[in-house]
Amino acid sequence: MSQTSIARVHARQVFDSRGRPTVEAEITLANGVSARAQAPSGASTGKAEAHELRDGGAAWGGKGVAKAVANIKGEIAALLAGFDVVDQPGLDSRLRAADGTDNLSRLGGNAILAVSLAALRTSTVALNLPLHERIAALAGTTPSLPMPMVNILSGGLHARRGMDVQDFLMIPLGARSYSEAFEWVWRVRASAADLCAARDITTLLADEGGLAPGFETSEQALDLMVAAFQAAGLQPGRDAAIALDIAASSLVDGEAYNFVRSGKRLSSADLIDTLTRWTSAYPIVSIEDGLGEDDWASWPALTEKLAHIQLVGDDLFATQPARIERGVAAGIANAALIKVNQNGTFSGALEAVRTARDGGYATIISARSGETEDDFLADFAAGIDGGQIKIGSVRNSERLAKYNQLLRLEEAGLRWSGARGLAPLRA
Ligand code: PGA
Ligand code: ZN
Repeated sequence: MSQTSIARVHARQVFDSRGRPTVEAEITLANGVSARAQAPSGASTGKAEAHELRDGGAAWGGKGVAKAVANIKGEIAALLAGFDVVDQPGLDSRLRAADGTDNLSRLGGNAILAVSLAALRTSTVALNLPLHERIAALAGTTPSLPMPMVNILSGGLHARRGMDVQDFLMIPLGARSYSEAFEWVWRVRASAADLCAARDITTLLADEGGLAPGFETSEQALDLMVAAFQAAGLQPGRDAAIALDIAASSLVDGEAYNFVRSGKRLSSADLIDTLTRWTSAYPIVSIEDGLGEDDWASWPALTEKLAHIQLVGDDLFATQPARIERGVAAGIANAALIKVNQNGTFSGALEAVRTARDGGYATIISARSGETEDDFLADFAAGIDGGQIKIGSVRNSERLAKYNQLLRLEEAGLRWSGARGLAPLRA
């Protein structure tokens, strides 16, 4: 038995930012080193994501994770006993093989991810490395500070469908450093809140810490974004630009995209026209899930119309290398959102990043709407030279935990990636 072989795998049910149960795994090595990690959880989930194992039944509204916890303490603990934690790819493939299903539905994607990330943390402590350096070593990359894509206004499933579009985000395109980017975002969010208050618009807090003004039309929200940039003293399109997450999969209703708040049922062609119109009228540089996850037939038309901006696949690709490969082959979208729990293991998410990059696609490391105090994503995005990070608004500690860790990494001397990671990629 080596010093870094696994002596104990433990787990417990803890609670995420929405107060829902989630899985925390803890690994202890033969040398006594121990670390833990927590699984996040989405609300506007894609069909191709790894399966989140929940108990059902009456307790915890059916969302308990006792089965996932038991799977870790039983089968997974036995599987990994004595395994060298430094072999992350080996550990991850052993977990996937033991599950035996494509979507990790037997042991639970939430159980497997928590163990995978706990192993990564534990090996990092054992090797006495900063986490972003350990990740860079596994990925073969040079760390950098990612450009944040930050939620300012929220709708969709994160704000009780108060607006049809899920996220109106800001990208501080012109910032010269991460801390300047963060300060600009902070200012814009404050300006947006002030502008709403001045107009007597109630802005409830959405799941990712964004403002939920519940505008009837998306144009009202886009106008407010531009006004907030200006009120913050930033030039729209140069200093600050808009990114949208349409989360179109969650608008699908029969054959149409149903924009309930604005009272419109749109065909794929109508939706493409609408997004094209918005992109000409507003400083929009990125659109995520502009069409649904099953609308592969219409994605080429969207990509053709808007190839000059970043087109991101979230539910579309679901952090599955095979789906990203299919997208690259079909030439649809030009960026992949990377959510570790959509894939299920750290190594699997890394493979998704590699697949995207090999295809010339940009990557955006993303949190879920249900997050935890775990700040792993900051080191992940920095470690893999990820280009961009999307972790919600600058509110609530499950979000700030990551933004704060990026401030520490900036202090440690990591270089700023600026806008170079945005698609279409600049060679
Ligand atoms: P989710 O939302 O975590 O609820 O899936 C995030 C997103 O759609 O990007
Ligand atoms: Zn999304």
